[in-house]
Parts: sequence; C-alpha cells; structure tokens
Amino acid sequence: MAQLLTLSRAAHLLGVTRAVLQSRIAAGDLPSHDGMVASEDLERLFPDLRLEDSGAFERITRIREEAFGKRIRERVLPNQEVLAQRLAAQSEELEEVRRTLAHYHDLLEALRERIDRMAGASPSEQLAELARFIDEGLAGVLASEEPADKVAIMDNVLRVMTAQVKVKPSGHEFFVEGSETILAAALRAGLAPSYGCGNGNCGLCKARIVSGQTRQVLNSDYPLSAGERAQGYALLCSHTAVSDLVVEMLEAQSPDDIPRQEIVARVKSVEPLSADILLLHLQTPRGNRLRFLAGQRVALSVSGSTANFRGEYPVASCPCDDRNLLFHIRRGNGDDERDEFADRLFAGALKANDAVSLFGPFGAFVLRKDSPRDLAFLACDTGFAPVKSLVEHAVASDLPGLIRLVWVATRPDGHYLENQCRAWADALETFSHVALTAPDAAAAGALAARRLIGEGDFMSRDAYVSGPAGFVAAAAGALASAGLPADQLSTEVL
Ligand code: FES
Repeated sequence: MAQLLTLSRAAHLLGVTRAVLQSRIAAGDLPSHDGMVASEDLERLFPDLRLEDSGAFERITRIREEAFGKRIRERVLPNQEVLAQRLAAQSEELEEVRRTLAHYHDLLEALRERIDRMAGASPSEQLAELARFIDEGLAGVLASEEPADKVAIMDNVLRVMTAQVKVKPSGHEFFVEGSETILAAALRAGLAPSYGCGNGNCGLCKARIVSGQTRQVLNSDYPLSAGERAQGYALLCSHTAVSDLVVEMLEAQSPDDIPRQEIVARVKSVEPLSADILLLHLQTPRGNRLRFLAGQRVALSVSGSTANFRGEYPVASCPCDDRNLLFHIRRGNGDDERDEFADRLFAGALKANDAVSLFGPFGAFVLRKDSPRDLAFLACDTGFAPVKSLVEHAVASDLPGLIRLVWVATRPDGHYLENQCRAWADALETFSHVALTAPDAAAAGALAARRLIGEGDFMSRDAYVSGPAGFVAAAAGALASAGLPADQLSTEVL
C-alpha cells in the first residue's frame, strides 16, 4: 500500500528541491494526487534511493551533538552509525507490520463480501467455504513477498529527526531538525517571521500553536500570560517542535514591516576577496540580531577618539543567518563618504573584535512576494553583494522558478566570487550564470541587458539590476525599451 507524501516532505526526503519534483510532475513522470506524491512513484523515479543519501546520518550526528549532554552521550547513547542503523532497522520492522496489517485488512473485507454472497447455502456448506477461504487468504498473506517501501522506511526515520511545520495563514511549510528552535528553522527556510531579540526576552516571536506539540529548549525571560498559554501561544525562539505543527504566525509582507534597528556588532574578520575588494564579517550579539530581508542595506559607522567614519552597504549574506553579516567593500575612489569607510578599511582601521554600529535595514531591493515568475539578476562588480543575498534567500525558500545571473565586471578581478556561482550551478538544476567583462559601468549595463534579452525568455522573468549608477541606468533602460513591464524590474544603485 503506497504512502502519500506532501511535495515538501518528498523533496526533503530525497534531498532535492521542490522544483525538481514539480518539473517531473509537469513532464508527466510523477503522478500527483491532490498535491501529494506516492512513495512507490518516488521509488520508481529514484531507484538508487538509499537512507545514507538522505542526510539522515549527518542529521543524527548533528542532532545528537546539539540535544544531549556530554555525560549522557558518553554513557547512554551508542555512536551515531549504530543509532542510525537501529532506527532504520526499527523502521523496516514497522513497515513490515504495516504491510501485513494492510493485507489482513484486505482479507477481512473480502471475507465480509464472501459472507454476504453465501446467503442461500446450508450452514455446513457455509462453514466449509469459510474455512477454505480463510486458509487460502492466510496462506496468501504469509507468502506475500512484496518488496519493502524504501521511501516509507526513510520517512519513518526522518520523522524521528525532523518535524514539518505548516504556517497559517500563508501556507508556507518548513522543517525543524533535531532540537533547533522553530524560529531558527523558519529563518533557515527563507521565511520572514516576526521576531526581535532571538533570545526569549522581547516576546515579538510569540505565535499560536494551532496543533502539534512543542518543547522549550532555551530559557526565556518573557512572561506569557495565563490567557496566552491557554490559547496555545509559545515563543518560537525558545521552543522546538516535538511533532508536526500548524502554527499561526506573523510574517513580514514587505520591507515596511521590518523595523529599523540599531545594534553594536563586532568585527569577526576582514579578508581580501580580490586586490580591490574586502570581505567584512560582522557578528551581532547573541541576544540582538539584525532582522532584515535579503537584498537590503545597512549603515555601518565607527566612532572613536581618533576616527569617525560611516558607509551604507548591502548585506551580502542570507537573513537566515542573522548574527553573521557579510559585506563586500570595494576600494573607493575617494569621492564620497562610503569611499571614506572603504579607505579606512583598506588602511587597516578595523581589526577583529572592534565595534561597528549597524543601523537599518534600508531599501526595497527584495524579492517580489509570491511572484510565480522566474528570476534574472544583472550585477556589475560589487553589485553582486545584494544579489548573493537574494540568490541565497531564493534557494533557502526553495522557490520553484529558474534563476539566471549575468555578472559583468569592469575591474580585472571583478568576478571575485566566481567559485560561489559555480557551486550554485553545480548544486542547483535551476541556477545558471554567465560572467562577462566590459570597460565601464554604462557599457556593462548595455552588455548585461543585451545578453538577457538575447536569451529570449526575459519577459517571463522578474529582473533585479544592481551595480553602479551608470550600469543600472543602461541595463534598466534597455530592458524597459525591450518591453519588460515596470513591475517586473527592481534596481539597486550602489
Ligand atoms: S525573538 Fe524575542 S522573545 Fe523571541
């Protein structure tokens, strides 16, 4: 008897994106039953499926590390491979019991029909017929050698380690792994839930658990009232999911829903990405994280007895890691205040553990909410920074559409994270990119737009253009002239 799985769960099990399964459904390879897929169809399409490939072993390792104290780990739990094998063996037994029960259920139903059909026979004939029927039926059940449903076995194992959360009213879905908090899992999945401190103090992540069980895993000082507890409210930053959940929670619909925040972060590192570009890594305090949407900017400022300087930069990392913020800082030309920040940074003014004030986020260069269209990103030089955040967010959100990146460099080593693009292309069937060069920003904009327009499908995409003013003007102008509607075009001038 095949098990039906939601598309999210099936993708999670197989370690592929939902887009991959959706494309197989669209191609007619994978039957869909009211949005669900059958385990036997998945097994047919992915015949090499093995538990080891599902990430279960790695998950067990991580979960074990996170969830248990050292003493208990050492004295009670076997090592992770043994644990995974025992789980897999028990799941296999469970599946066999389920299959056998299903056969007995079928046998009982057939028996019921047989009894109805024997109404005219004598009692002795009835008894003999029933005895023969039961003997044959039992022999059939015992002789059954139906192969094990591998997908169902894997699902049983992974259910021990992950819980699925459905969000109301948006309908978003995500998975909580091990004992991570529901908030951390939601951010990792690319959602924009309401939250503040991330540390159990402010109450902004309060949400109603409509169904399912949670457990508190982190301390919290925020007092929920008796009435809120009775209605099922819990703090998402301090609870994990014990079972699958339905949660009613607030999500940001636009940049206007994200409040401006002021945070003092510390420099984690300053490293060169190329001769003219530095990677600045800031870390916020554990209880004061930056809530922002992918693609947004923040103002950075340094105040000291000898120096005061500031600049505004896009965050080049994903909001799913709200403590570790990355910035791509290019060497300046010395003609604006941001260049002063860059000049100071290149002069070695910031070292590990120095304080940097963050204020923001700013800007509306964010993904269009719930747009069904494919995505196109046109970036010039460090215009790649917000694009990187957007691509990471699109990947975390498991957006089903295609992602095309055209990155044009006007500096000799301008494609400073080309490896990152190749890694995306290797890992994602939906991502492709091209790296081009041009002598200046305006030429780069014309080239990027020409390239995208030449590929023919640009009208079916939302286009995001990011880079110097000359680049953005040339690229956006060419796309608009070619007919791309204004509501499919977003720009960010750096
Ligand atoms: S985010 Fe502040 S209490 Fe949860």
